[in-house]
Amino acid sequence: MKTILVTGGTGYIGSHTVTALIQSGYNVVVLDNLYNSSEAVLDRIETITGTKPKFYKTDILDKEGLKTVFAENEIDAVIHFAGYKAVGESVQIPLTYYENNISGSVNLYEAMKDAGVKTLVFSSSATVYGAPKSVPIREDFPTSTTNPYGSTKLMNEMILADVCKSDPDWSVLLLRYFNPIGAHQSGLLGEVPNGIPNNLVPYIARVANGTLEYLRVWGNDYPTPDGTGVRDYIHVVDLAEGHIAAVAYALEHKGADYINLGTGNGYSVLEVLHAYEKACGKELPYQILERRPGDIAECYADTEKAARLLNWRAKYNIDEMCRDSWNFTLKNPDGIK
Ligand code: WQD
Repeated sequence: MKTILVTGGTGYIGSHTVTALIQSGYNVVVLDNLYNSSEAVLDRIETITGTKPKFYKTDILDKEGLKTVFAENEIDAVIHFAGYKAVGESVQIPLTYYENNISGSVNLYEAMKDAGVKTLVFSSSATVYGAPKSVPIREDFPTSTTNPYGSTKLMNEMILADVCKSDPDWSVLLLRYFNPIGAHQSGLLGEVPNGIPNNLVPYIARVANGTLEYLRVWGNDYPTPDGTGVRDYIHVVDLAEGHIAAVAYALEHKGADYINLGTGNGYSVLEVLHAYEKACGKELPYQILERRPGDIAECYADTEKAARLLNWRAKYNIDEMCRDSWNFTLKNPDGIK
């Protein structure tokens, strides 16, 4: 049985991936500093899978803590989610983002190297494409970033590409997620944002459960069918399955490669809002406001490479994503404690 270390494993995407890994027959070790998640997530993973993964409350800035994890476990591969991820916050406190997402990640890669663990799946983001010249976006499109969060993702990609050039024994898959939304069908796992959500669907969920008054639609003058921003929303369970395919591929190959994880479909803000109205059975109020600085008009994935290399495609549609998001929101009004 292969053992996978999942950093950030109690987080939103991490917890869904840990669940899928256990259900796929892997032994899983979870490392998390619980800055943006709760240890109670591990009990929920146990409820779903029957297995509570071994857990280390460790910060990737803690070099000794990382060394202990690799000394106490025979790790075959690492999936690295741990990192700060709020775009707006990264503009306010860039040094905190660079320290955590870059120095912390380099600590992890050094600990892997010292332990002879050279297989890694990295949580990257479609944000590395900046404002794409066209859509759908292919992995060979130019990269550029407009905020420190996105820059930390791109810098990690460059660091890992250089590590692979320095040592051909490394195997690294750089997964570029589009817009993860939704929740586990059990209603036990889902997204629990700190404070007022920046992202669209967690904000809509709060309008639907009455804790926020209306959705602020950031601009309806984009060159899109209804004028609002278009994004490639992907169900977090599909994303987790993409990681199962990715880690299996990484264990069988060497070198670095980049793969989009998206559905290939773009939905506008208003289309998502209406899908959520169907899911919750209520009309959801909104106001059209000015564009949000830094936003782009359209972003959705070319999914050919993921299908070809990983034999993986997203399965869930926007209605199922909103259904599962609303189910989690209803069942967890106070998040996961
Ligand atoms: C989606 C659309 C907004 C909120 C970000 C990160 C990216 C990734 C996913 C980590 C846009 C509109 C939003 C609201 C709105 N995260 N919107 N009202 O900006 O595409 O991507 O999250 O990897 O890195 O950049 O996602 O959900 O913030 O916005 O109108 O209250 O919804 O303008 O068109 P985004 P988002």
